[in-house]
Amino acid sequence: MKIVCLLGSPRPQGNSSTIARQFLREAAKHGARVQTFDLHQLDYGGCKACYVCKGPPGKCCVNDDLIPVLDAIYEADTLVISTPIYFDGFNYKVSAFLERTNSYFQVDEQTSAFNSRLAPGKKLVFIQVQGRPASARKDLSPQFNQYFDWLGFKDKYLIYACGVNRPGDIKTGDDILQLAEETARNICLRRPGGSF
Ligand SMILES: Cc1cc2nc3c(=O)[nH]c(=O)nc-3n(C[C@H](O)[C@H](O)[C@H](O)COP(=O)(O)O)c2cc1C
Repeated sequence: MKIVCLLGSPRPQGNSSTIARQFLREAAKHGARVQTFDLHQLDYGGCKACYVCKGPPGKCCVNDDLIPVLDAIYEADTLVISTPIYFDGFNYKVSAFLERTNSYFQVDEQTSAFNSRLAPGKKLVFIQVQGRPASARKDLSPQFNQYFDWLGFKDKYLIYACGVNRPGDIKTGDDILQLAEETARNICLRRPGGSF
């Protein structure tokens, strides 16, 4: 099991990263190989809409720090995206990453359909945290569910925390960390399940 994890918070000790690390620790105990990218340490931007990726050599031609991330996801069995909610959406680093995944699509010459170059059946773990309480939950997974399907992700797991603001608001023993551990076990032990 190879896991690629994207940390989307600019705060290394932020709540979304805390959940992601708990997930990764548990996965590593079950033999997973883990590669983590701290998106805010990388210099990259969004899609340039050049469409070079639609022809050969079939990859994004924007030569920046995101290319190794996009390449690593080809090799991953599971992708973890952890992100804070900013202004009811993703922050700019996570949004720019998502735009660049457009490069995974190729055009079928016969049908003009867009097909994913990613091997089908990868798993996705989507970790989102927000400061406002559960009554104002802004889960972005319904909005992206179909897109992740098109990319070829099969099992999709959501871990969502509300009402957390300061680093450390999520503490050892919290239910959400237990959910992260349980999700890691379910994935590593290849138990069925996982749908937003
Ligand atoms: C610029 C900015 C915008 C934010 N917008 C929202 C928001 O729309 N809704 C919300 O519930 N929390 C919002 N928050 C609070 C963060 O989601 C919250 O602090 C979260 O814990 C940050 O994630 P992190 O701990 O992983 O860094 C915002 C925080 C910042 C800095």
